[in-house]
Amino acid sequence: MAIKLNKSYLSDFVSDAEISAIRGEVENALKTTKEGTGAGSDFLGWYDLPLRYKTEEYDEIKKAAEQIKKDCDVLIVIGIGGSYLGARAAIEFIKSPLYNSLKKDTPDIYFSGNNISSTQMKELFDICEGRDVCVNVISKSGKTTEPAISFRIFREYLEKKYGEEGAKNRIYVTTDKSRGALKQLADQKGYKTFVVPDDIGGRYSVLTAVGLLPIAVAGCDLDAIMEGAAQANKELLSADYDNNSCLQYAAIRNILYRGGKKVEIMACYESAYAMMAEWWKQLYGESEGKDGKGILPDSVIYSTDLHSLGQIVQEGERNIFETVVDIKTSRNEVIIPSDAEDKDELNYIAGKSMHEVNRTATEATILAHSSGLVPNIVLELDGRTEADFGYMVYFFELACAVSGYTLGINPFDQPGVEAYKNNMFALLGKKGEKFDEIRAQLKK
Ligand code: PA5
Repeated sequence: MAIKLNKSYLSDFVSDAEISAIRGEVENALKTTKEGTGAGSDFLGWYDLPLRYKTEEYDEIKKAAEQIKKDCDVLIVIGIGGSYLGARAAIEFIKSPLYNSLKKDTPDIYFSGNNISSTQMKELFDICEGRDVCVNVISKSGKTTEPAISFRIFREYLEKKYGEEGAKNRIYVTTDKSRGALKQLADQKGYKTFVVPDDIGGRYSVLTAVGLLPIAVAGCDLDAIMEGAAQANKELLSADYDNNSCLQYAAIRNILYRGGKKVEIMACYESAYAMMAEWWKQLYGESEGKDGKGILPDSVIYSTDLHSLGQIVQEGERNIFETVVDIKTSRNEVIIPSDAEDKDELNYIAGKSMHEVNRTATEATILAHSSGLVPNIVLELDGRTEADFGYMVYFFELACAVSGYTLGINPFDQPGVEAYKNNMFALLGKKGEKFDEIRAQLKK
């Protein structure tokens, strides 16, 4: 399996007997997912997606990506939550967190519509100054306020810059196949559209047009991503419980949760993983955090965060566990040089590669944290290829569904996200909202 689960650092916290005892529940949760008999089963489209992705639309995505590469220097991807996190995670993981600053023959890619900061909007316009721009707006519902605001502003910008017809050829819309304000606008204006499938929720949608179009524009190989996901689908749905890293991950996090570990910190020693962790946080937080239950997903990039959160992980309240994504290989070797004077006293590691030292930091930290009573689940991953990414996405999606059903919640809805939206609409005076009632609750 491309992801191996190393349980060596769990033996003081989770016993083999506990892993055996929860087996029935986890296998039932998998069966519920496989057979589509659980809550939210209308949203299982991601489950066999890696086996049926070769559609006309998949070819259209590749063609559109080639066109965007020819037409622009900057692609603005507009979306929030599941409509942008996966693409951003993929680009940073497969390419680099410094993607936009690297020498490359693909456009810079910036993400907008995931906040309402006018400062950031202005900065994006400064970045676009004198450069050719395309926009990919992504919203399944087609009515989320943050991306809708950003798109209205960018649409006006493109129409002023290129005229209505010119703008039309630079705007790509990914939304519901028939419903929503965005779909109506796209049809009316004649924009190229891609579909967010009805049966795939936002946070499970990275391997649809939602993620694949921006990922392809960044020059990633879509076929390799989907082959990685297909390999995960094949392996993780056939391996038995004892040899299935995905089911074991779902099992262990539930055991730890029941034992009082309410916070899961995902840790990685490569900064390229930071946005993957953000994607994972949304997937697990939105899927499991409901009905008064759920593990709080958090994340760190080490060594960076050893000098911020390291203290609380080592010695704070013992209600946390860590899931370490241990990327085994590095793309290059940077050797630490020897220095005749050795004033910084580093000659003892001269000649070693930085990656070797990073691996030692990984081992040292896992050891320290598990000795400090923080259980460490270690997920070993070979590298940062497209196939690794595809495999990992499917691994975490399947584990999330299985873990969520084991927890006893619907892993596919997100009713809690509506609360702030209703208040915001009412306070902004949107027609039909209970403005006075909500304003009266404001504490000021
Ligand atoms: O996972 C989800 O469903 C959410 O995070 C959505 O992706 C997010 O709220 C954006 O919604 P939409 O794509 O409808 O604009």
